[in-house]
Amino acid sequence: MHVDSPQYGVIRQFQRSDINRVLEIASHSLTEYYTSSLIFDLYESWPEGFTVYTVDNEIVAFMIAARNTPNEARILMFAVDEDHRRQGIGEKLMQEFVIFASMNGFISLKLEVKTDNDSAINFYKKFGFVITSRLRAYYSDASDAFTMWKII
Ligand SMILES: CC(C)(COP(=O)(O)OP(=O)(O)OC[C@H]1O[C@@H](n2cnc3c(N)ncnc32)[C@H](O)[C@@H]1OP(=O)(O)O)[C@@H](O)C(=O)NCCC(=O)NCCS
Repeated sequence: MHVDSPQYGVIRQFQRSDINRVLEIASHSLTEYYTSSLIFDLYESWPEGFTVYTVDNEIVAFMIAARNTPNEARILMFAVDEDHRRQGIGEKLMQEFVIFASMNGFISLKLEVKTDNDSAINFYKKFGFVITSRLRAYYSDASDAFTMWKII
């Protein structure tokens, strides 16, 4: 159940000036280390795949996706600030991205997730992603990933 749904949340495209806040959320929420140059490279290669969610003009969540193939988009980074989870923000970002991807000719979405990240796996399953494979020692700490996939 969603609690305290933010009333004034806005989804917008990333801007270069957002980088510090995005890196801050990433460092608290994701286990891999990401640099600003990597994020800018991803942004330059497909700006439409990079969205942020703001509440009262502060970024509280972001999603970065890339074009995997002409028909498949891949979600590379996705995080909601810890204080704003379970309020439906991740759901809104995912719904918006699915609509955008389907309107732009993509037929599937793919991502990798740590095999012990139950909350994210539950989240993705809720949106119709299924586990298709296990990637051994995928992450820098040698932990495994599940590949998850969804037809849109
Ligand atoms: C995964 C993540 C993005 C979900 O964002 P969120 O805004 O908290 O998710 P929502 O509130 O939109 O949840 C939607 C649904 O997902 C499922 N879900 C979300 N968090 C869950 C949790 N901790 N445990 C179980 N199910 C969960 C629920 O079905 C939920 O619906 P409900 O609240 O009506 O029960 C967020 O937990 C996060 O940032 N995690 C840390 C970073 C991360 O793991 N990113 C993914 C890397 S692959």
